[in-house]
Order: sequence, then C-alpha cells, then structure tokens
Amino acid sequence: MQNEKIAIEIEPIGKRFNLDRPANMLDAIRNAGIGIKSVCSGKGTCGKCRIIITGGTVPEATDSERRILAKDEIAHGVRLACQHDFMENTSAYIPASSLSEEQKLQITGQEKSIKVEQIVKKYFLKLERATLEDVKADFNRIRDTLFSVYSVRADCIDYEVLKKMPEIIRKNRWEITAAVRKNEIVNIEPGDTTGKNYGIAIDLGTTKIAALLVDLITGKTIDKKGVMNPQIGYGEDVMSRINFASESTENLIKTKKTVTDSINFLISGLCKNNGLESVEISEVTLVGNTAMHHLFLGLPVKQLGLSPFPALTSDSLEIKARELGIEISTGGYIYLIPVVAGFIGSDLIAMVLATDLYKMKGNCIGIDIGTNTEIALVSKGNLYSVSTASGPAFEGAHIRYGMRAAPGAIERVIIDSNDCKPRIQTIDDKKPVGICGSGILDAVAELLKAGIINSHGKFDKENRCICIDSLGNARYVLLPDYYDDNDETCPSEDLISINQKDIVEIQLAKGAMRTGIEILLEYAGIDFRDIDKIIIAGAFGSYIDPKNVINIGMFPNIPLKKISQVGNAASTGAKMVLISEKQRKTAEDIGKKIRYLELNVFPSFSEHFAQSVQFPKSEEII
Ligand code: FES
Repeated sequence: MQNEKIAIEIEPIGKRFNLDRPANMLDAIRNAGIGIKSVCSGKGTCGKCRIIITGGTVPEATDSERRILAKDEIAHGVRLACQHDFMENTSAYIPASSLSEEQKLQITGQEKSIKVEQIVKKYFLKLERATLEDVKADFNRIRDTLFSVYSVRADCIDYEVLKKMPEIIRKNRWEITAAVRKNEIVNIEPGDTTGKNYGIAIDLGTTKIAALLVDLITGKTIDKKGVMNPQIGYGEDVMSRINFASESTENLIKTKKTVTDSINFLISGLCKNNGLESVEISEVTLVGNTAMHHLFLGLPVKQLGLSPFPALTSDSLEIKARELGIEISTGGYIYLIPVVAGFIGSDLIAMVLATDLYKMKGNCIGIDIGTNTEIALVSKGNLYSVSTASGPAFEGAHIRYGMRAAPGAIERVIIDSNDCKPRIQTIDDKKPVGICGSGILDAVAELLKAGIINSHGKFDKENRCICIDSLGNARYVLLPDYYDDNDETCPSEDLISINQKDIVEIQLAKGAMRTGIEILLEYAGIDFRDIDKIIIAGAFGSYIDPKNVINIGMFPNIPLKKISQVGNAASTGAKMVLISEKQRKTAEDIGKKIRYLELNVFPSFSEHFAQSVQFPKSEEII
C-alpha cells in the first residue's frame, strides 16, 4: 500500500501531479503550489478547505464534516481536504471560496465608445390617488400617466410586477418609478430611481465566466469580476461536457445549476462591491460558445456532439431572467446573441461585432484561441468562420508540467543558447510550480530558435542543453538554477521541464489552428500574403507573444505590425448589445451573414493538417 505513485488532478487550476500514497489532501494540494485556505490549520473546524471529489472514490464523511458540511454538500462529494488522504488516482475541484489566490483571469477587452440607447427605460410617476370618483385600476393608472406625461406606451405588465405593484404604490404615496422595456412594464420601484439603471454583460466561456457591471444610462463599465466555470468538474473540454450532460436529465440539470449559481454569485458580488442589490439590475446579456449557451438555457446538447452538429436555435433570444434562475429585477430579461452552428457560438459574433471585423475592408482575420479555437475571416465583404478542435494544451492540459494561468505558473521563457539557461517569469513572481499556455508557447519557440528541437519537433539528442534519462527520453529543464550546479546527471522527474510528448501536444494544437486559417484562405481564394490584419482576441491571446506565434508556425509569417491583440472582445461585444438596440440588430445581422465552414469535409484538410503540425525551419525563425 505504501509508496505507490498515484495521479492527482486539481481543477480549476488544471494542475496534475503524482505522489506517494497515502498523502493528506490539504498538504498535497499545498505542496503542489496551490493556495488553498485553511484557517484552523487542518483541525477540521473552520470548513475553509472545502474541495469537491469529482473523480475516484469519495471518502466516507468524518464526524467533523458531518458537523460543518450540509447534507447536500456531502451527498455531492464535498469534503474537507484536511480530513482525508489521497489513496488512489483522484480528481478534485477547488471552489473559488476555498482558493486563497485568484487565478489570472482576463475579463475585459478594449472598451468601445458607442451611442447608448437604453433598452430598459425608467420613468418617475406621480400618480393621482384612487378615489371614489376615480376608481381606475392601478395598472391602467400607470399606463395612462406614462402616456400623458412621457408619451410612452406600455401595453402590458409583468405578472410578478403586477402582484407587488399595489403595495409599492400605496407605501410610497403614489410616487413610483416604472421600468419599461419594449412596451412592457418590467419593474415598479418606490420613489424616484430614474438616476439608477444597471445591467450585467456576461461572457460565458468553457474555462471561465466574466461579468461586467454596466451603468445603462452612461454606458460606462463600473466594475468587473470573473470566476472559473465550475462545469470544469464535469469535463475539461466542450465535448466531454456535452457527453456528461447528455447522459441523463439529472446531469443536464446539474450542469445548468452549477453555471446559474456562478452567474448569481458574480452578479451579487458585483452589486455588493458597488453598494447595489441584485434586484437593481435591469437587464443581462450573455454570450458564449454554442454548448455553453445551450447548457445555460438547460437545452438538450446531444445533437451538438453528433455530425452535422446543429444548434437548437440560431435566433437571438430574450428570456425572463427568473425563468432561468438568474436573480435580477422582478421582470428583467436576459438577451442572448444568436449562435451560428454547433461550434460557432455567440462569443464569435460578439468578437466580430466588438472588433468591427464585419465592416473591415481587405482580408482580415479574427481569432479567439481556446480549447475550441474559433476563427472568422472577412474577405471581399463576405464573412466566413471555422472552429478547430485545438484542444486544451494551451491551458496546460496534457502537458507534463502544464497548468492554467495561476500564481507560480511560468508565463514567459527566453533561452540563452550560450549557457542553455532559461530566463523565466512566473505569475506574481511566485516560486515556479508549473507552466501555463503563454510560457509553453514561448518555451517551444525558444527551443526551436536555439536549435534544441528541429522543425519536426524532435529533440536534437546531441544538443548539450537537454538531458536524457536512463530510458533515453529527452527533456529540457525550465528551472534556471538547474544549470548553475549541473553535474551532468539528468534531473529527476520532479523538475519542471518540457518533454517530447509535450512538444507533440503543442504541434497538434497549433497545427489545428493553422489548418483552420489555411482552409479559410483557400475557401476565400486568397493566400497569406493577402492578409491585411489578424486580430487575436480572448484571454489567452492577450498574453502570448505574436512573434513566437509566428515562430512556431501557428500563424503564417506576416509582418508583426499586421497583428493586434484586443483582449476579451467577446465581453466587449456582450456589453455593446447591453447598451444599444442598434448593436443588437447588427449582431443579429452578423449571425445571418456569417458562413460556417465545416473543416473535416474539405478534401485538403488532411494535407493542410500534415503541413501545419510541422514547425518552421530555423532560417524562417524571426
Ligand atoms: Fe480548517 Fe480543513 S483547514 S477545516
């Protein structure tokens, strides 16, 4: 039983490590460099070290856990890390409330100044009191006053608002504010609240959820907040979540509830930080890939996993927030931009909207790098899109020492070919605990540049900078100290390094993206020299070095000045449709115009892919 290696996977950090069993869960998680809370130092009394066991046997709850955790939590695999040992291969999820350090989450993109057109408008009304001579119904009284004072028509009122209306009117001496949305009264508030009108824009990603609190009167972003998408506990990539949710109605409900809870947590957190209540939020907009969009709505997703991967609807949707379990103002709505196809979601449309890609002249590409990389090309006024299964390698998955961007992750690498030594930068300058996407990309580009790997991705086993273990496996160690006292023995597995399998994973990921670009260019009848602009959107895209993106052949070799990085453009797009009806119409038009190309049906797909997994030759490195 003793000293047998077991594999542990910790989400949402994406950290994988091996250890000897048994090992106390709290200690092992800490030793892996993950900041988990423990106010009582592991006595089992503070309840701060909650984790959820998502893979492997869930241990029997201890007496301390029965005292601290709710029955429901225990039933759903929640345990206190300090109370148990890892005994077998285990996957665990650490909720945000138990993490002591925030993960690095890029929430916002570049702000765009657009004309604000309030979709929910508020009107202060001084109503005539009902008397024996004037027994007009309350709603009719509001409706008539709205028209006579503001020339605003309100034909209907939300049912729940209707129920609470009489008390608000009478408690506030017949002075109220009516919130009107497209001829419907969606809220009644006491007194004059016309100076306060707020909305939330949400980018629901596979890995993270970003939310912006927006002033609907000025159009300004007041605050932002992000959390990891807790659905990661049900599968790291989109396909595994589709499979999980398709297994049973119960699973579909679970995936919906977990994301609904997170969105409510974000909304209430943003409101609390800004002296507001969730009920003061008038409207929410949400963008996401098609699977996230459907799972949020609780829609069946099985068809998204089967060719030809159709979406259930590609129209925009307006749904009462309360019907979806989202807690905002009584009659408030959630507006969702249309999705295009199974793997082209409303996040791509939001990105095309926010970057103005749809109206650019020339040949311009917008790319949102993620587990599924979505790429749009505008050429001669036409809009095309593809989705490539680039996989989670750039989020650290399937990479021996890979992890998501969190404190201690190596995010920058430069290799000095003279002394073989890497210069590394870690997030928050913490002790290195793994390597995240931008670091992996840098490392591979630098290995190529230093001639440590060749254009086929193979280690040059004669190169003095690599070490080869007793089994003949080559790897490059990413810790500078190793080179100071290198006694020429190959280091133990515990040193953070890049191995041959890691490089193959990167070749497959970048090869998938490059194939997508090549097929779009081929379909539009142009070549890479015709590209006028490449816009890199998305959180990961903000941190990568465009030069290295070209050096590993993920992008064609175009002048660097043609590449721009815009951050999370999907959240910018979600905000644009929150504050403007005109932008909603434009987004809907983009959805109708954009043509989706299914990569696998292209006869040239295999040929492009075979070429795309190769790295550039050393003379092509810039
Ligand atoms: Fe306090 Fe585990 S550390 S309960």
